[in-house]
Amino acid sequence: MNATMVNGSAAVTVDARHIEDAVRDNAWLHFTQMAMYDDRERRPLMLVRGEGSTVWDIDDNAYLDLLAGIYSVNAGYGRQRIVDAMAAQAAALPFVNPFGYISVPTAVLANRLAELAPLGGEARVFFTSGGSESVESALKLAKQYHTNRGYPHRWKTVSRRVAYHGTTMGALSVNGLTDARSAFGPLIPGARHAPMSNRFRCPYCQDAAACTLVCYDEIERIVEFEGPDQVAAIILEPVQNAGGCIPPGSSDYFTKIRKLCDDTGILMIMDEVICGFGRLGTLFASEYYGVQPDLITVAKGITSSYAPLGAVLARKTIADSFAAPAPDELPPPVAEARKAGFLHGLTFGGHPVSCAAANANLDIMLEEDLPGRARDMGAYLRESLEATLGNHPNVGDIRGVGLFLGIELVADRDTKETFRDNALLAWLTDKMRERGLILRNDSRNDPTTQLCPPLVITREECDRTVGILEETITELGRRLGTVGTSHPSPQMQGAPA
Ligand SMILES: Cc1ncc(COP(=O)(O)O)c(C=O)c1O
Repeated sequence: MNATMVNGSAAVTVDARHIEDAVRDNAWLHFTQMAMYDDRERRPLMLVRGEGSTVWDIDDNAYLDLLAGIYSVNAGYGRQRIVDAMAAQAAALPFVNPFGYISVPTAVLANRLAELAPLGGEARVFFTSGGSESVESALKLAKQYHTNRGYPHRWKTVSRRVAYHGTTMGALSVNGLTDARSAFGPLIPGARHAPMSNRFRCPYCQDAAACTLVCYDEIERIVEFEGPDQVAAIILEPVQNAGGCIPPGSSDYFTKIRKLCDDTGILMIMDEVICGFGRLGTLFASEYYGVQPDLITVAKGITSSYAPLGAVLARKTIADSFAAPAPDELPPPVAEARKAGFLHGLTFGGHPVSCAAANANLDIMLEEDLPGRARDMGAYLRESLEATLGNHPNVGDIRGVGLFLGIELVADRDTKETFRDNALLAWLTDKMRERGLILRNDSRNDPTTQLCPPLVITREECDRTVGILEETITELGRRLGTVGTSHPSPQMQGAPA
């Protein structure tokens, strides 16, 4: 069998068997046990094209991409406008050295993001080439900010357990996933972890009528214990990804953290790598929660993943601390830090072709009101999920914001008993894929089916998704022994008696 690969303007035919061998012997997929592909029957899904919310594999099978790539193709596939913008920039000038030079699309994008971001009206934008680099850069920026101001001993951070902030050493240190961290110690010192805010399984108040915000109190306690004058930053995802789309238990959660940061001088970093660019129903996720952080990290949806790009958006007052001239009387680390500006750089940060893609993506987002679409379609999808799966014996919780939704799967709905069975979750993912859905059954905490489609998903596609989910989760229930003949599958419901 042959496959087609685009090379220049020509479509080149390559031998599919050769590609399979290359995957087995040479490719190294991320967070993937490559040995499983020694089995010739198994191969990773090789995708070749996409349109809207649908992607096609090398054998021309179509799938609804309920993961939007990896929480990232927000504007959907097949956007010629983004492709044209990238091609035009690549033809004019493919690269500009960011160490002291800048391209036109990079400058334009910085200006647009600074005007749109909820950072108090003025901001400066430091570009990276992805999410981990954005988090890494934000942490360094926070630490140098304090050094600039004469507090070099502020080097600790607070993040949350089960959080995912990326894989580079700084980002990994603020991650709260034990498995992802364990092989790489010692990690960056001073990274402390607070409990997450998870209503469904809250150790403090899951049975109370409302969130008691003890999860926030725990953050305050950690800050007090570590010494507020030694903490550089608190970093948080607006809706926590790992563990399955977990919004904070109370709308006051982030405003209280904002106040804590104001009172102590700690910087508040919102990691919007997934939740930014329309996902929650607002352009920036912080807007959804009505907070103005000090730093916002973005990536993924900034270009709808047509090209790699990330950024740290910093309040102007923070950026200004890097501009101050070095007073002679300051001790050496402070004086040195102030002289040189931000002591950090990345060759591909703010790549011109990526910034051209981001500008076209932003035009689409604003013209088509994709955040509004995420709000409306998210509400529709959620209502359909609740109507169809709300009483399913293996569905414990349906939660999320906008088009970032999670269905927490349980072994027993009444007791909330969970099941931690990765093989069963892999089976579930395969079954869903066989039925035409790509999505993630997150196994990093209690099992949760995550829905994070392109923001252009249609009602018909939402309906199809819910139908497949019901069918497959019911089959899961049979395997867990919780669904019997009293909970017929959709086909059986429609079948003649
Ligand atoms: C909240 C958050 N931060 C950072 C990252 C890391 O991004 P990247 O994979 O682009 O390095 C991710 C990735 O999913 C993320 O979800």
